[in-house]
Formats: sequence, C-alpha cells, structure tokens
Amino acid sequence: MPRIVAPTDDSLAQAADVLRGGGVVAFPTETVYGLGADTFNTSAIARVYALKGRPADNPLIAHVRGVDDARTLVQSWDDRCDKLAGRFWPGPLTLVLHRASKVPAAAAAGLDTIAVRCPSHPVARQLLERFAAPISAPSANRSGCVSPTQARHVADDFSSIADAADLMILDGGDSEVGIESTVVDLTSARPRILRPGSIGVEQLEEILGTMESPRMESQTISPGTSPLHYAPRTPVELVDTMELKQRMAEPANTSGPLAVLCFSPPFVKPPHKPVGMPRRADQYARRLYDALRRADGFGCSRILIELPPADNALWRAVHDRLRRAAGG
Ligand code: TXA
Ligand code: MG
Repeated sequence: MPRIVAPTDDSLAQAADVLRGGGVVAFPTETVYGLGADTFNTSAIARVYALKGRPADNPLIAHVRGVDDARTLVQSWDDRCDKLAGRFWPGPLTLVLHRASKVPAAAAAGLDTIAVRCPSHPVARQLLERFAAPISAPSANRSGCVSPTQARHVADDFSSIADAADLMILDGGDSEVGIESTVVDLTSARPRILRPGSIGVEQLEEILGTMESPRMESQTISPGTSPLHYAPRTPVELVDTMELKQRMAEPANTSGPLAVLCFSPPFVKPPHKPVGMPRRADQYARRLYDALRRADGFGCSRILIELPPADNALWRAVHDRLRRAAGG
C-alpha cells in the first residue's frame, strides 16, 4: 500500500533521497498533488509514466525553486517570463518555453519545449529545496482520472497498483486552489493559454497584452488538454438549475438513483444522492475534485452537475474542468 506520511524534517529528507535514487514521490501543491521524479533522470521519468499509465506523448511540468532553476531548463528566458514569474511565482502558473538541450527529451515527452512552474505550497517548496533540483511531476492521479487534492485521493488511486506498493505520499492537507495551474505557451511572439486555471486571461493580459483566447486544444499541442481528461468513471451530465429541478421531479424509476452536485442539497430527495457545493468560486474549485470522487463512489448511473455561473476567470476554469468531466 502507498504510505501517507506527515511532512517532517525526516520524511522530507527521505523523500529527497528517494528522488536522488531515481524513485518517485507524491507531494502536495497548492493546485493538486503531483507525482514527482528527477527531471534529469530518464528512468525515473519513465517510472512516472508507467505508474500513472500516462500516454507517452503527454509531457510533464518541471517544478522549480524559482527563476534561477527555470532558466537552466529553457533556451531563453525573456522579459515576459521575468514579469510573469515576478507577479505569479510561486503560484499556479505554468510557462511553456523552448527546452534547453541538456534537459532530457524524455522530461518533455520528446517535445522541444518544456513546461515550468514554481509551486507555492510550503511542502512542495521544502521538497524542492532539499532536492535542490527540478522535479518533473504530473498530477498524481491515474491517467484520465480526476486529479487528487488530498493525500487520501492519491492513496486511493494507487492502492491497487503493484509498482506503487512503496509509494510515499507527503500529506500537505487539502490543496488550496483545487484545480490545475494555468498553462501559458510562450514559445511564439503571441502567447496563448493552453489550459485555463485560477490565474485568468485578464491578469495575464496586464503583462502580456492581448492573448488568444483559450479553447479545447488538440492532442498534439497540449495532450493533457484533450476532452475527457478529468473524468470520473460515472457518466457526467451538466444541467442548469431549471433542468435540475425538472429532473428531480421525475419519478426515480426512469433514471435510477443519480448523484447530484448542486448548490441546494435539500432539493435532492432519496433515492438520489446530493453533494452540496459552495457558491463561491474559490471554495467550489477547492471542493470540486473531492466532490467528483465522492459522487463517483456512490455507484449511481449518472452524476448530474448543476452549472455554476461563468462570470469570472476562476468560474470559467471550473467550467472547463466540468466540460471535460462530462466528456467535452
Ligand atoms: O497544477 C498543475 O499544473 C499540476 C501540479 C502537480 O503542478 N500538474 C499538472 O500536471 O496538472 P499534468 O501533467 O496533469 O498536466 C500538465 C499539462 C498537460 O495538459 C500537458 O499536456 C501540459 O501541461 N504540458 C506539459 N508540458 C507541455 C509542453 N511542453 N507543451 C505543451 N503543453 C505541455
Ligand atoms: Mg493531470
């Protein structure tokens, strides 16, 4: 069984040793938990792909202590990078840049670019300080599943994976942001959002000027942004409040029990099963993946999700994840 451990001086030193030995460690970040390996160790990187069951063409994000580390991974670090890092690092912003030739291609799924991010979670920072080098890490879920925002989620996903029997999971509590970082492509003169996140286009445009709007990307540009990427096993349907009320008024024998993520749980009567969601965007984002995992665990035929508003950047990023959970 994977081991959930409290982040102490001892366990952090142990985790850094595991990374040095070419092993894999799960650790908390402010967005979601990551499954980390030494960026410069190709067999350690291969182990991450195998454990996750991740397609070989989906590149990883290299996590760094700060700008100095980031510079060592990329061909050129320009003024835009300095400004973005100055404003948003440490934090949930990932920059895609041209990969430095000394960085193994395997750390970026063979692409000539690399994604870099400096996380703000104190445990991630302490681990990076102790390891003193970049840590490549995808979200610490099995490929195609919902990202983990608690140590327990990681343990659940890997409990039946033989090769994860000795996986160490540093427990950093609930991830505060709750959805994955904003990914920005800076490899051309026209920066582009590849994956929306809590740092929105308006904030980025203050630094970068007008950007191309985010959209569902194709596999080749940013593989992890393909539809059906953050999906529970149970089929998901997005409904507005009116439609939800109608569905709840129908006799349950037409649908069987439904799991329902909604703002007013008392609307949902047995045999349907409610999961109450907060009305504030930041709280909603923080709760979302745990709620999807819980709803998945009910074993219902479907998960209905009451659509939240879409009137700010965070809600729009939440909508992006909801659409993906529903299959695009
Ligand atoms: O918040 C996060 O970003 C979390 C935490 C652990 O840092 N990580 C995460 O990693 O979400 P992952 O592997 O689940 O998603 C990384 C995303 C994918 O959509 C991937 O395709 C994209 O970043 N990506 C990584 N490297 C890229 C590159 N060189 N070019 C384009 N997209 C890239
Ligand atoms: Mg992921």
